Amino acid sequence: MTQTPSPSADDIQGLFDRIAPVYDDFNQQLSFGLHQVWKQMAVDWSQAAAGQIGLDVCCGSGDLALLLARRLGQTGQVYGLDFAPAQLAIAQQKATQQIGLAPVQWIEGDALQLPFDDAEFDVVTMAYGLRNLTDVPQGLRELQRVLKPGGRAAVLDFHRPASAWLRQFQQWYLDNVVVTAAQRFDLTAEYAYISPSLDRFPTGQQQVQLAQTAGFADVTFYPVAAGLMGILVMTK
Ligand SMILES: C[S@@+](CC[C@H](N)C(=O)[O-])C[C@H]1O[C@@H](n2cnc3c(N)ncnc32)[C@H](O)[C@@H]1O
Repeated sequence: MTQTPSPSADDIQGLFDRIAPVYDDFNQQLSFGLHQVWKQMAVDWSQAAAGQIGLDVCCGSGDLALLLARRLGQTGQVYGLDFAPAQLAIAQQKATQQIGLAPVQWIEGDALQLPFDDAEFDVVTMAYGLRNLTDVPQGLRELQRVLKPGGRAAVLDFHRPASAWLRQFQQWYLDNVVVTAAQRFDLTAEYAYISPSLDRFPTGQQQVQLAQTAGFADVTFYPVAAGLMGILVMTK
């Protein structure tokens, strides 16, 4: 299979800033609302608990950070980090509409060079971010570095299913349904990037190996939605 060249970090940041106004509606429509269920699973499997300090990396418009903030409660603290300011602006606005959450601080920063000390966090989450990083091993090393010993990270992303027909269905859905929906907003190129980014993305087993190499002590990859998605759960 020929692979399209990887975009630069600037390309990725520009892309997510441009799609920010439609990003939430697209996620909701194209996943039939299931992205929220999968994000909640990531929070559950991170074993986040009330009063902890948590970090959501590549937080985008903030859905997972806000679910994490609900779990950590008012005695907890959450940081949401992303390098696309237009996404962070939406996250910030959404946070003001919810009550009973841990306070959330939104930070414009780079997932490959997190602006935090070693061992600051009890729990770290990420949704649909790892696949977008220009250096996946470095992204995993940063998650490991900022976690406290014994802390957990849960990383949700697309995954290529093992079943050939499901793999075909996924490809058809991305190439046709997703890209066609994006055409209405003149965002075809922006959404056409998902499929090649998934082709480059390590498989679940490869993710496990990368996480172990990054220094995580205990790592499990859980296929979700028949392997169309996956959650990588890692303990430091
Ligand atoms: C597909 S979105 C996911 C957003 C959100 N977590 C969600 O699930 O809706 C990927 C996000 O990763 C961010 N991102 C990609 N590379 C990054 C980097 N190196 N540092 C910080 N954010 C990055 C993008 O700006 C974008 O908001």
